Amino acid sequence: MKVLVTGGAGFIGSNFIHYWLKNHPQDEIINLDKLTYAGNLENLKAVENNPNYKFVLGDICNIDVVGPLVRDCDIVVHFAAESHVDRSIIDCAEFVRTNVMGTQILLDAAKEHDKRFHHVSTDEVFGALSLDSKEKFNESTSYNPHSPYSASKAGSDHLVRAYFDTHKLAITISNCSNNFGPYQFPEKFIPLAITNLLTEKKVPIYGDGLYVRDWIYVTDHCRAIDLILQKGKIGETYCIGGMASDINNLQIIEKILKILGKDKTMIEFVKDRPAHDRRYAVDWSKAKIELGYKPEHDFDEYLTQTVKWYQENQDWWQKVKSGEYQKYYKKQYGGESC
Ligand code: NAD
Ligand code: TYD
Repeated sequence: MKVLVTGGAGFIGSNFIHYWLKNHPQDEIINLDKLTYAGNLENLKAVENNPNYKFVLGDICNIDVVGPLVRDCDIVVHFAAESHVDRSIIDCAEFVRTNVMGTQILLDAAKEHDKRFHHVSTDEVFGALSLDSKEKFNESTSYNPHSPYSASKAGSDHLVRAYFDTHKLAITISNCSNNFGPYQFPEKFIPLAITNLLTEKKVPIYGDGLYVRDWIYVTDHCRAIDLILQKGKIGETYCIGGMASDINNLQIIEKILKILGKDKTMIEFVKDRPAHDRRYAVDWSKAKIELGYKPEHDFDEYLTQTVKWYQENQDWWQKVKSGEYQKYYKKQYGGESC
């Protein structure tokens, strides 16, 4: 099988490529990525010479690039997106362009060439839960996004479902909770905290720090997508979550401080994010019943592993923080990404 992965140089996409080549060594992967600030080919150094892996520098909004790649593949697994809430608050334009228009362009190509299309989305499209309820998001939860990021992802999810309803395109969607693990860009909470602490900088905590996310180790997300591709029902959405529910941001920082042998003076409370969603929690029972999915990576154990990964791979994130990682592809591909 030939799998077209979009956004494969980002955090989850690159973990997915490593996962796929390991678990499906007979398959070919084509990685289409624009290499925005979030794309980093160093994430894929270990597989760059694998004959079953090919990188294509390009924009999902460019139909001339997308058309032939979709025509020549068997399935599309669509990760490419602008993914950081704080950036979407500062400037939303790229979020609408990539997340909504880019998805539409991919969908049109998939429609033209009649290809299976898996859309990787987020639980943030459902909005926020309250701290005092036991409620969780599931596949029937109404969409109620609050950030420009989640609104743009919601727009893309609606388009994907509309192509199933209208054109009978063979789609599936996954709405997954917050991922953590290796190769996550250090603007996101967990890698930002770890890399700040490793350089003796304080960790900024938004508001009161009592915000709750449903954390999932990235490999569990990759395995869930694999299960959806193998066993998922066409036209369906699957909610995917992890093992850690009801842990708030302060508790996470306390765990990281403990792993690194540091104290609470390294916490700095800062101004809250506007429209900050209080709590996310995912009910993944549909994926369990229909696909046999269940998260396998314990939160505390893999948080410790993740801290260790950032300790052992300082070169990777130091290059990201200094901007040097972008020189890597400029040297290889000659100039700016398109
Ligand atoms: P990321 O920001 O780390 O990576 C995004 C990748 O997409 C980068 O490699 C970037 O270069 C590429 N890209 C951006 N615009 C592009 C364009 N126009 N054309 C081609 N490539 C482009 O993101 P991530 O955290 O790996 O998230 C991947 C997907 O998973 C996103 O769709 C996101 O919404 C979704 N998701 C993320 C999480 C999470 O916790 N990170 C949770 C659930 C769902
Ligand atoms: P983030 O990693 O940006 O993911 P998302 O907003 O998509 O859930 O943030 C996770 C949580 O951590 C969220 O409640 C915001 C909070 N946060 C901080 O308190 N400080 C920070 O510096 C960052 C980046 C996030």
